[in-house]
Amino acid sequence: MSAELRTQVAIVGAGPAGLMLAHLLHRCGIESVIVESRSRDYVESRVRAGVLEHGTAELLNDTGVGERMLREGLVHRGIALRFNDRSVRIDFPDLTDGKTVTVYGQQEVVKDLIAARLATGAPILFECPVVAIDAGDQPSLRYRDAAGAEHVVRADFIAGCDGFHGVAREAIPSDAITLYDHTFPFGWLGILAETPPVSEELIYVNHERGFALVSMRSRTISRMYLQCRNDEDLALWPDDRIWSELRERLGSDRGGPDVRPGKMLQKGVTPMRSFVCDPMRYGRLFLAGDAAHIVPPTGAKGMNLAIADVRVLAEALEAYYESGDPALLDAYSQTCLRRVWKTQRFSMYMTRMLHRFDEHTPFDHRVQLAELDYVTSSRTAATSLAENYVGLPLESTAGLRKVRS
Ligand code: PHB
Repeated sequence: MSAELRTQVAIVGAGPAGLMLAHLLHRCGIESVIVESRSRDYVESRVRAGVLEHGTAELLNDTGVGERMLREGLVHRGIALRFNDRSVRIDFPDLTDGKTVTVYGQQEVVKDLIAARLATGAPILFECPVVAIDAGDQPSLRYRDAAGAEHVVRADFIAGCDGFHGVAREAIPSDAITLYDHTFPFGWLGILAETPPVSEELIYVNHERGFALVSMRSRTISRMYLQCRNDEDLALWPDDRIWSELRERLGSDRGGPDVRPGKMLQKGVTPMRSFVCDPMRYGRLFLAGDAAHIVPPTGAKGMNLAIADVRVLAEALEAYYESGDPALLDAYSQTCLRRVWKTQRFSMYMTRMLHRFDEHTPFDHRVQLAELDYVTSSRTAATSLAENYVGLPLESTAGLRKVRS
C-alpha cells in the first residue's frame, strides 16, 4: 500500500540542518515532514565534530533545545596554537567582546533535536531513502519504506539537508549550478578514547611530522586527530603507534602536554575537502548544510554553517507564509553564500597554517611559522582568528524585511 503525504516543507535528511530547520519551522507554525534514509540509532551515534559557535549555542538555548547542552557542554574561552614546541593561547572573550564556544558533540545536538521533534508528534521517517525529487512548480519527493513500498510526499518546498553524498543536489540539473571544489592531499586520522583531555582547551599543533589536534567530548573522553594520508590505511595504525605519534607531535617528552593512552573507542580517517554549490537553490528545492558546501574541519565550522543556513531558510519561509512575499527566499542563496565563502576562507587559512604540505619548500615552511608567530603576537591578527572561530555575526535578514514592509 502506498501512502501520500501532504505538507508545507518536505525535509530530506535528519542531520543537524534538517532537524534544526524542522524545529525552527515548527516554532512558527509551519508544517514539515522529515525523511531520513538511515535509522535513528545510526544518526544519533555518528561521531562528528563538536564545537558550537557562540551563535549556534545561543540559538539552541533561545529556541528551547539547549538544556542538556547547558548541563553537559563545556564552555571554552580559548584555544592554544602550538608550534616550535611552545603553546600560545588565543583568548576568545578578551578578543571578541566576551564570546566563547561550546564543546558539545554533533550527535548530542542531533539527539536533542530528535527528542524535540518527537515531542511535537510531527512526522520524522527513519530508514526511508528518498528515491526521487521533483523540484518543479508542484514539488514532491518519493521515498521507499523499510518494507520496500514507495510513497509520495507533496510539499510547497523541499529542503535538501541530506549531506554531501545525498540525493537532493543530484536532483538539480548540472547546468543550473556551478560547483567549486578543492581537495587536500591529506586527511585526518581521528580517535575517540577514554582518557581525560590533556588540556582544558583545544590545542592545534603545527609539527614537522604533521598537524595534530587534541579535543574532547567530556572530562573523561578525548577526541584527537593526526594529519595522515587521505588514503591512509587504518590497519597501519595500531593503538600504540597512534599514542606515540600524538606524544611526538604534542611534544609530551619536551615539556608539552602529557598524552596518556586510554581505551580506544573509535578510529577513522576523515578526508579533507572544500566544496561549494552555487546557487544553493533550484526552483522550490533549497539546499542546506553539507548538501551545499563542505569545509575542511580545521576551523570546526561544518555544523555551524549548516545551522546558519537553516536559520536563514526558516526566516525566509516564515516571511513567505506570513505575507506571500518570496523576496527572502529569492535572497536565500546569496545570503548564505556570503557566510559560506567567508567560512571557506577561514577554514582554508587554518588548514594552510597548520598542516604539512609535501610541496612546501623550506621557504614556505618558514613563512608558515611566521604566520603562527604573527597571529599569536599581534592582537589585531589574533582578533581576526578569534572572531572567526567564535563565529562571524549572523546576518539578519530582518533589515530586508523591514525595508519591504
Ligand atoms: C572535534 O572535537 O571533533 C573537533 C574540534 C575542533 C576542530 C575539529 C574537530 O577544528
